[in-house]
Amino acid sequence: MILGVAVVILSSLVYLIVKWLNSPSGIIYRNKDIPAPPEESWLLGHPNMSNPMYSEGGVQWLDKWTQKYPKLWKIRVGPYVDFVTADPKVIKAIFNEKPEKDHFYRYVRDWLGDGLLLSAGQKWFTRRKLLTPSFHFDILKSYHEIFNKTTNVFIECIKEKGDEEVDIFNLSLWLTLDTVLQCLLGYEGHCQIKEDDYASLMYKITGLVIKRIYAPQYAYDWVYGLTQDGKEYKELAERFEVITRKIIADRQTLHDERPEELSDQQDFLDILLSVKYDDGSKLSTRDVMDEANVFVFEGHDTTGAAISWALYLLSKNREHLDKCYQEVKSVFVDGSENVTLHQLSSLPYLSLCLKECLRLKCSVPYIGRELSKDFTVDIDGKSVMMPAGSVIHIVLDTMHRHKNHWDSPEEFRPDRFLPENMGKRDPFTYIPFSAGPRNCVGQKFAESEFRLTVAKVLYNFDIEVIGEEKIERLNAFIQKPLNLYLKFTPRS
Ligand code: HEM
Repeated sequence: MILGVAVVILSSLVYLIVKWLNSPSGIIYRNKDIPAPPEESWLLGHPNMSNPMYSEGGVQWLDKWTQKYPKLWKIRVGPYVDFVTADPKVIKAIFNEKPEKDHFYRYVRDWLGDGLLLSAGQKWFTRRKLLTPSFHFDILKSYHEIFNKTTNVFIECIKEKGDEEVDIFNLSLWLTLDTVLQCLLGYEGHCQIKEDDYASLMYKITGLVIKRIYAPQYAYDWVYGLTQDGKEYKELAERFEVITRKIIADRQTLHDERPEELSDQQDFLDILLSVKYDDGSKLSTRDVMDEANVFVFEGHDTTGAAISWALYLLSKNREHLDKCYQEVKSVFVDGSENVTLHQLSSLPYLSLCLKECLRLKCSVPYIGRELSKDFTVDIDGKSVMMPAGSVIHIVLDTMHRHKNHWDSPEEFRPDRFLPENMGKRDPFTYIPFSAGPRNCVGQKFAESEFRLTVAKVLYNFDIEVIGEEKIERLNAFIQKPLNLYLKFTPRS
């Protein structure tokens, strides 16, 4: 009897091991041509519990190995073995294969459904075609008025802080949330100046989703559902859904019953409610909700982080800050309240500096892809097979600061982006908004808000960093600054 049980256990183990060795993870693991960091626990693989991957220590660890092996290396997390790259040629070749998003994104699927960020194949293609016009230049022009309004409130909020040190990321998040909600959904929560249900629910839910990504014990839905966080998430998500449904229903009523009250200029929600597939059918309410959630989620943290890091980097590089200020002052001749689109496009030096800021601290530090078919890449003359189903982590953050592509990569040098210098580099070495068909659909929107906010802040204040040694990065889809405090002195 005991012998029988032992044989069953042993053969199951052998079966599992053979199965794993022939899986994408096993194939990558067995390939000795692909380097891997030596420190590895047999059970957990590379993650170090005292320095989790999302913490400053984890960010530095990932950067260290990607700097060392920028073309390709492998990382093991438990039984999963994935590729890591920061090489523009490998990235370009992978993007050409049209891979799907990797399994890491599944933690936000519960929240963002099958909206543009996560959908795949034909569904994604059709949706992207339908929604891309929502960010057409003419529509962006109408958003500009809102950008002016929300950034004016932001400036007032900073003024009200007086001599206080400002947690700039926190403040920027309320600005960018206020902006996307007003621009995309026509929802005026004014969350920068008052408590707003929709905005604070979005804020709390985003926090819980991010916490879950890094908690392996929450991987299974049924386990998560039993935890305190899981219960809180469910409750918040239900309350959030009620508000979103109401916003959508109110606008639908206008479309159906009082179209004369609709604004002449359609916003994102109008477009979601009116676009039609080739067969004449419309998006379902669930589809509209998913897309609204995706765009609000993608459209606030990213730009909030970009604004915060840019103000930090400029304050540390005074020579460039002063040059930007002189430029802004010479263009904003009537003050900064109603900046025109023409004025905004007349700030060439600031634009170079903001590109440099996104290079040094890109808001989206990594993206992941899963190969749908076997694929071979050439690494230093050796051909490496990447099996179908394997996951590739693309570390934009390291690629943007690798000495193979940038001279003195840690130095703040905006002239890298002058046309004569840009031409010398492979365009794939700098892709903060990703590239190819799945690049950021909100890029122009983000760039406008980013430029306008930083320009207005520079026009109104001088900036200084406080307690620099305490600043840390938290990588949770977005590269967020922790403990980033700035002091703002009003310009006379
Ligand atoms: C500085 C600000 C921003 C940065 C750096 C940024 C960066 C990115 C990156 C790197 C991706 C690719 C993600 C991936 O492949 O997994 C992406 C996708 C996306 N972004 Fe942005 N983003 C920003 C702002 C925005 C804004 C303001 C919006 C909307 C208003 C937006 C909407 C989206 C959407 C919907 C996708 C998915 C596109 C698709 O898969 O077809 N982003 N973004």
